[in-house]
Amino acid sequence: MSSTTDASTGRAQISARTLRTDRWWLPPLLNFAGLTAWVVYATVRAFQQDNYWVGEYEYLTPFYSPCVSVGCVPESAHFGQFLPDVWWLPYASLTLPFLLLFRLTCYYYRKAYYRAFWLSPPACAVAEPHKKYTGETRFPLLGQNLHRYFFYAAAIISVINTYDMVLSFTTGIGLGNIILLVNVVALWAYTISCHSCRSIVGGRINNFSKHPMRYKSWQFVSRLNAKHMQLAWLTLGTLAFTDFYIMAVAAGWISDLRIVG
Ligand code: FES
Repeated sequence: MSSTTDASTGRAQISARTLRTDRWWLPPLLNFAGLTAWVVYATVRAFQQDNYWVGEYEYLTPFYSPCVSVGCVPESAHFGQFLPDVWWLPYASLTLPFLLLFRLTCYYYRKAYYRAFWLSPPACAVAEPHKKYTGETRFPLLGQNLHRYFFYAAAIISVINTYDMVLSFTTGIGLGNIILLVNVVALWAYTISCHSCRSIVGGRINNFSKHPMRYKSWQFVSRLNAKHMQLAWLTLGTLAFTDFYIMAVAAGWISDLRIVG
């Protein structure tokens, strides 16, 4: 180890926290603002227990899907009603925790919130404020390894969102249908671009030439995987926008723009 390196931390012995002169703090700051705003909006909406369903056009917001509380409008509950109707339990409590854990353990979001919220580290070549670094080797961060299982759960939930979207087309076509469709396509793109999905599709084989279908699928997933960060943000946008549009129609603030029916 050179004499300019602190032997106990492995860090360079310089007093400055970083020698970077660019605006390295901007991406973590934007991530902090964007993620905080989204979590506040989603939390308020999940607990609101109102304006989540437009019966006339069968629009169900993804934040309430599947609606499984006895408080749900019966027509919106496509998978039964078995959770108690209490204010502290969102109507989609069966699936929301899995979606939250899927995003929390996502490789991209981990990078984003480790940097933006824990400053660990805030950016490349910027020292973190914490004295000790144990990575993801201990509880609770050891649980990040469960991401693959949350991926399976998220894939099932995407099927449910797809079912909701298809059902809405049985009443005709309106702007709400298009918004639901775009949201579902974006959700699938994000889910399939998952690093775990790439490893499931292309992993555990020694020779791609003997598995041409898996090779093609792996190439497809890999192409999407390169856009995983963009898809992560796109889906936060489409989810919030879809929910807001359905809330606005359900509350009577606007009427759905009808194209057919
Ligand atoms: Fe982001 Fe799996 S790595 S969803």
